[in-house]
This record gives sequence, C-alpha cells and structure tokens, in this order.
Amino acid sequence: MIKINANYLKLESGYLFPEISRRVRAFSAKNPDAKIIRLGIGDVTEPLPPAIIEAMHKAVDQMGSRAGFKGYGPEQGYDFLIEAIIANDYKSRGVSLENTEVFVSDGAKCDTGNFQEIFGIDNVVAVTDPVYPVYVDTNVMAGRSGDADKTGRFSGIIYMPATADNNFVPELPKEKVDLIYLCFPNNPTGAVATKQQLKRWVDYARDNKAIILFDAAYEAFISDNPESIGIPHSIYEIEGAKEVAVEFRSFSKTAGFTGLRCAFTVVPKELKAWTKDGKAVEVNPIWNRRHCTKFNGASCISQAAAAAVYTAQGKKQVRKIIELYMSNAALIRSTLEKLGLQVYGGVNAPYVWLKTPDKKSSWEFFDYLLEKANVVGTPGSGFGAAGEGFFRLSAFGNPANVAEAMERFKKL
Ligand code: MLT
Repeated sequence: MIKINANYLKLESGYLFPEISRRVRAFSAKNPDAKIIRLGIGDVTEPLPPAIIEAMHKAVDQMGSRAGFKGYGPEQGYDFLIEAIIANDYKSRGVSLENTEVFVSDGAKCDTGNFQEIFGIDNVVAVTDPVYPVYVDTNVMAGRSGDADKTGRFSGIIYMPATADNNFVPELPKEKVDLIYLCFPNNPTGAVATKQQLKRWVDYARDNKAIILFDAAYEAFISDNPESIGIPHSIYEIEGAKEVAVEFRSFSKTAGFTGLRCAFTVVPKELKAWTKDGKAVEVNPIWNRRHCTKFNGASCISQAAAAAVYTAQGKKQVRKIIELYMSNAALIRSTLEKLGLQVYGGVNAPYVWLKTPDKKSSWEFFDYLLEKANVVGTPGSGFGAAGEGFFRLSAFGNPANVAEAMERFKKL
C-alpha cells in the first residue's frame, strides 16, 4: 500500500494565493460586470523594459544558430550572469564573493522552500509572524512540526511576532533555535531592519551555531531617501554574516521576471552546519550537490535577460519601473492615512500593511472590499496568526488601477 507523506495532511488544503483566486473567481462568476482591481498577490504588471527584451531576442537568435546554440548549461548558472551579480549587487556594497558562492535558479520561492531539505529534521525552526507562507509550509511538509492549532500555528515551530509595537522587526527568540527565516524588506509588512537589528540576529546565530535564511527579494525597493541610507540591502553587509547566513535574491520583483523566472541564492564558503557529534560541515558543497542533483539550471534565455538588468540601460529602465511601483505605494499610503487608517510599510517595500477598520477580521475585510469596492487585497491572517486584523495591498498594480482603487476606498 502506498502511503502518503502525512505531513502534507497537516497543511490547509489551499495555498494562500490560489485560495484568494478561487474566491475572486467565485465573486466574478456571480458579478460578471464587476471591474475587479487586483492588489493581492505581489505580481508585477509593467512590461519588461527594452534592454531586457533586446537581450532575450539576441539569446533566442543564438539558440537558432549552430554556433550560438546552447544545451544544458552549468547547473549553478552562467559565469556571465554570476559575475554581473557579484560586481553589481555585492562588490559595490563592499561584499566580496566567489563565483562558486552564487547559485542561479528559476525562483526565490523554490530556493527558500527547498533550502531546508539539506538540514536535519530535528532542527528547531523560527519564523516571524506574519511570514511568507512558503517558509513554514515547506518545513511542515518536511516533518519539522506537529499539527496546527486553530490560529494556524504549528507546534514545534517558533513564531516571533512582528507587531506595530516592535515596528514589525521581532525580538530574538527566547528559545534556542537552529534555522531562522528572515525577510527584509519584509513581505508582507513592508518593514525594514536596520544594520544594528540585523547584527543582533547575526550575533545570535553565531552564538547558537544557527543559520539564517535571509530573503532579500525586495532589496531593490529600499529607497534612496536620506532616511533610508544605511538600511542594508544584503545581510552580508553585517560583519560575520557569511559564517551564518544564506541570502536569496530574485529578479521577479526587481526587474519584472515573475513570468520569465530567474533568481539566485548566495551560499558563502564560510557557512557551516554541524554533524550530530559536533563536526563542522561546509554548507556550500552540500547545496551544490543538491542543486546539481535536482536542477538543470535556469533557462539560458532568462539568464541572458537577467544579465541585461545590470547593463547601464537595464539599470536605468528597471529603476524607472521600481519608481513607478513605489509611487503607487506612496499613493496607497497617503490615501489610506487620510482616511484615518493605520498604515505601515510602502516606503522601502512594495507592500502596504494596514490595520483593518472597525475591528474586522482579515478575511471579513477581504470580502467587504471585494464586494463593496471590487478591490482584491491579501488578508493578513493568511500570513500567520499575528497578521489577523491586518490586510496587505500590493503596489505592483497598474498606476491607473491603483488610483481607481484608491477612489473606491474613499467611497467606502
Ligand atoms: C506575494 O504576493 O507574497 C508574492 O508575490 C508571493 C511570491 O513571491 O511568491
């Protein structure tokens, strides 16, 4: 008899975003004339900029010629992309990396989800609450938790509440934990962590022989304003972080690759995990082993496109799109603030996190907004128990739609 992995049965049947889509489809079916504005899932809406399209056309043409055709590439990614990543994202911030410390992939969701599998099942996992659900669900699937309680929290996982009182940057865990997931700029709250705050996490990990999985998918949205100077774009800006942290980056939100797919993960050579009897093991070759066994590399066309993000034209064009999304965020923030709502994020991140009005639950507000304004957002409780009573609006919409959504909020 074939047995199912019973850990999967501990999870709610639907992942958050497909569940939202299901509800929106049901609403649309009943209200076919409703002009729905989607500010739910953080999916980009602007077309890819010309520098990236040109690079892809060139790569496609090469694939059609005997001389330029490429079959399987290096599983870790092409050096032309890895070198551009290191020079632009790291060297420019004082972080030196070797090519073999960067692993190109087809998405940060997969990488943040997959990375846990190279660690033992008996590790204690700590996550912020609210949290990007992938970190929790993949650990549940792997068997690092017990069952969920009625708020959705799994036993065996340490939840670190991110609340308005701590500016959505949680305290260090009181318990001793082994694997810590952090995401800054944060999805869903839009909060950022300072160097001092990240240093406390790095010091904790060094003191406790723990590892931090640092999701920096939104670093490109840290603003250039004087108040944001000094907010780290990479955890490796913190001294000692290479010994204890893996960093995930993505071209999805930065450069509009949600449909195209390309991302990368940094696994420094200094990073160590431990055998049961306390012997140090380098994590980089283990991840390399896993990566080469389960992955054949990101498409060469996506990698050519990603390299174009780092050209002078690419940088300029991508920056313009980021500015467009961040002006959406500013409009959302200012409109909701004027309406008297409590609003967070949206300054260094493309998400605005708001307290639901009239003590509505997150899903009540979701239904209310969909019905009364035909606007889709994401219920905060979908990101964890501490997200209950909050709601997330994505700034990735088309500006005219975002403006229209804000007019509808004013009429509520
Ligand atoms: C989100 O809306 O939280 C993100 O788009 C999800 C993702 O990046 O997978």
